[in-house]
Amino acid sequence: MEIVVTSADLLREPSDLAVLACLEHTPLPAELATLIEGADFSGKARQQRLLYPRGMVAPKRVLLLGLGTAEKLTADSLRQAAATATRQAQELQVDRLSVGLNGDLALAPTLIGQALAEGLALGAYRFQRYRSELSAEQKFAVAGATIVATANAEALQAGATIGQTIARGVTYARDLVNTPPNDLPPAALGEAAIAMGQRLGLTVTVLDKAQLIAGGFGGVLAVGQGSANEPRFIVMEYGTAREGTATICLVGKGLTFDSGGLSIKPADAMTTMKSDMSGAAAVFGTLQVVAELQLPLHVVGIVPAAENMPSSTAFRPDDVITTLSGKTVEVINTDAEGRIVLADGLHYAQRYRPAAIIELSTLTGAIVIALGAHAIGMMGTSQELADRISRAGEASGERVWQLPLWDEYREMIKSEIADMKNIGGRPAGSITAAAFLANFVGDYPFVHLDIAGTAFAEKPTKPYDTPGATGVGVRLLSALLRSYAE
Ligand code: BES
Ligand code: ZN
Ligand code: ZN
Repeated sequence: MEIVVTSADLLREPSDLAVLACLEHTPLPAELATLIEGADFSGKARQQRLLYPRGMVAPKRVLLLGLGTAEKLTADSLRQAAATATRQAQELQVDRLSVGLNGDLALAPTLIGQALAEGLALGAYRFQRYRSELSAEQKFAVAGATIVATANAEALQAGATIGQTIARGVTYARDLVNTPPNDLPPAALGEAAIAMGQRLGLTVTVLDKAQLIAGGFGGVLAVGQGSANEPRFIVMEYGTAREGTATICLVGKGLTFDSGGLSIKPADAMTTMKSDMSGAAAVFGTLQVVAELQLPLHVVGIVPAAENMPSSTAFRPDDVITTLSGKTVEVINTDAEGRIVLADGLHYAQRYRPAAIIELSTLTGAIVIALGAHAIGMMGTSQELADRISRAGEASGERVWQLPLWDEYREMIKSEIADMKNIGGRPAGSITAAAFLANFVGDYPFVHLDIAGTAFAEKPTKPYDTPGATGVGVRLLSALLRSYAE
């Protein structure tokens, strides 16, 4: 979708659909106030009224959207309103919509432009690649949107350009996650990285099974050994030649499908496990954003990719694995596989001497129980980095909530026969998983983000999400990396 910003009066420009997003307790423009019963629209959050002004103003249709009160307004209120606007345009089969704001918003104009563009673009997202036939309604796509500004058009435009770039990164991540696992085995994820690298000028390395054996990637190999689809280890580097800038490593869990392996999942828990590479997808999407925005940073994306399957060649409970770091892991449950591939990914990150290692994974069902779909679980070894990520979460609307990572939790994964075991029992399942990961990052500042509850929404609650992948992490990491680039 094409998004532009113009300086004009929303109600004087001809349009098939003009959307006015309104703060609560703010009077409507006089021309509109005569078109509606006052009590029918107050501007409370998520309220919607569609008006047909019949020539009273220039637009054919006017959609009033409520933003809620000024005190409670966040960038996400705008993101949601903008997504609702696109969805209405889609339903009405309107080719172009225009969007304006009513009320004094206490947000920076660039942030307003960014949030509106993200919402407009994401509200139009659909995943239709696997439909053999499309109805007329499914074929129709909103072509463009105009943000109509009464002031600060330049700042709004700058923000909207950033927002569109971020939305494209989110869309790319969603497409990767929504792609079925038979079409996206580890090798295909590697090919996607190579294609993205060529498109954006990244340095991409994809190690195949023989190279993993030669290199001692015991974690990725163990998890992948039960599948005919061989594992890969993907490294994508942006800003390689830059000197004097911080190096940030982003590590993403790339399980293209997680059946649980021999510790097999029940059927109901196995569906949607194509989304077990959502951490990887967030890394792909973020690298695209970073490259398109040309941020002055050195960013390394690391994705250990494997398919976890039960078979006669699969790794088993009771196996002891030697990971890339040399540390040994006693396998108790083959369904706790993410931490095992990530052990290799995190250890590999240390070779870059990074200022930060940020790792994203659909790691535990326990985080779904703790936080549901409304926050990413965060645990880490650097409070400074964690605080920075918290701020990026507020700014991006992808909020994080921190859990402790005390030494006591590390005790829970001690093994009788190896350096550690891969599960610590039911209590504090998300934290013991993080405690396991912390064994592989040395002294580098490290934060783990558990996105198991936020990556895939069967029944989304936000208008910018559609059933399926959310692309979570791209907005958060883009905000974070932009904060380093400032
Ligand atoms: N990929 C799953 C976690 C998951 C659960 C992601 C629900 C998305 C939605 C992970 O590999 C897993 O199976 N974890 C186990 C760990 C357990 C065996 C200690 C879990 O959480 O049940
Ligand atoms: Zn699992
Ligand atoms: Zn998994």
